[in-house]
Amino acid sequence: MTVLENTYTADNIFKTDKKRVLSGIQPTGILHIGNYIGAISVWVQKQHEFNNLFMIANLHALTIPEAVKADVLRHNSRMVAALYVACGIDPDSAVIFLQSDVPGHAYLSWILGCCTPMGWLERMTQFKTKSEQAESVSSGLFTYPALQAADILIYKANFVPVGEDQSQHVEITRDIAQRFNHLFGECFPLPQGLYREAGARVMGLDDPTAKMSKSVAETRKGHAISLLDEPSVIKKAIMSAVTDPGSEVRFEHASPGVKNLLVLYEVLSGESRPAIEEKFAGKGYGFLKRELLDQVVRTLEPIQKRYREITEDERYLDDLLANGAAKARAIADQTVAEVRRLTGV
Ligand code: ADP
Ligand code: TRP
Repeated sequence: MTVLENTYTADNIFKTDKKRVLSGIQPTGILHIGNYIGAISVWVQKQHEFNNLFMIANLHALTIPEAVKADVLRHNSRMVAALYVACGIDPDSAVIFLQSDVPGHAYLSWILGCCTPMGWLERMTQFKTKSEQAESVSSGLFTYPALQAADILIYKANFVPVGEDQSQHVEITRDIAQRFNHLFGECFPLPQGLYREAGARVMGLDDPTAKMSKSVAETRKGHAISLLDEPSVIKKAIMSAVTDPGSEVRFEHASPGVKNLLVLYEVLSGESRPAIEEKFAGKGYGFLKRELLDQVVRTLEPIQKRYREITEDERYLDDLLANGAAKARAIADQTVAEVRRLTGV
């Protein structure tokens, strides 16, 4: 792949006229099965319906700077890009790029921040949770949603496939877009979130009352299944997952831990709920866990194989990201020009 920076224009990146998708993941650690199910698997399944941009949100990763080391961030950013492809994103049709490679995101973020009342930002639950946990709270953590709005609006994306925890960020993006359009003139379409019916919020295996998350996974073994875990590690995590003292395997009355295992099984196997309940009736949680283990290993094996192939070839990722950045910049520059005209800056 060669980078054809000068030949890209906003109009020749995608071959056909389809609705546009943008989504992204912060490179704050190894991706887990919640990221895969809630976000990446939806991107993969729907990639042919849309024109897609998938970003590695490395600027968002700086909002808690105490948690960042430059080398680790660089490595994780490439790892996330490689995992997108390993999970099945077609790198020839989707634009895969680092957020920091497109200066327009930070630029638009400032302008959108000026259109965002403090009260809207104060209501964000992710800000409340993260700021309670952080030793010091940066203003970047507070204005995080303005940058996320810029990520989405700079490409005039129509859909944002994410896990349920991001729904508030998609909603505020719509509000910010509306406010900009009202203040300066029609510019941005209002994006919609795309969520799974089942699996939009995968819970921690060791604590099914809390969302499975990268940061917790770093300090608690058995909390998450990482996409690069070996089968023996996955086995430990699943076999020790929290359930309850009962044994009945039903979706409707299941305790949070059992429900989580059932939903994981449902999403990965593609089987229907009645078929699953029939299969597990009277067999107890041990059997459910063993079957789930089998599904998880079968899902991750080909992903890990492709990941190894991709990361063995340094040039491949360099080219992929350079090309993605050139394409993303071509679209972003056009929006920035329009925003400059509308705002008078
Ligand atoms: P994390 O919270 O683990 O650090 P991110 O915030 O970077 O993950 O999320 C990346 C994507 O994965 C987002 O679309 C997010 O909604 C989704 N996601 C994260 N955790 C889960 C989960 N436990 N279940 C479903 N989707 C999730
Ligand atoms: N905030 C998202 C998360 O933590 C990551 C993200 C950044 C994102 N920019 C985005 C997701 C734009 C969708 C669209 O998961």
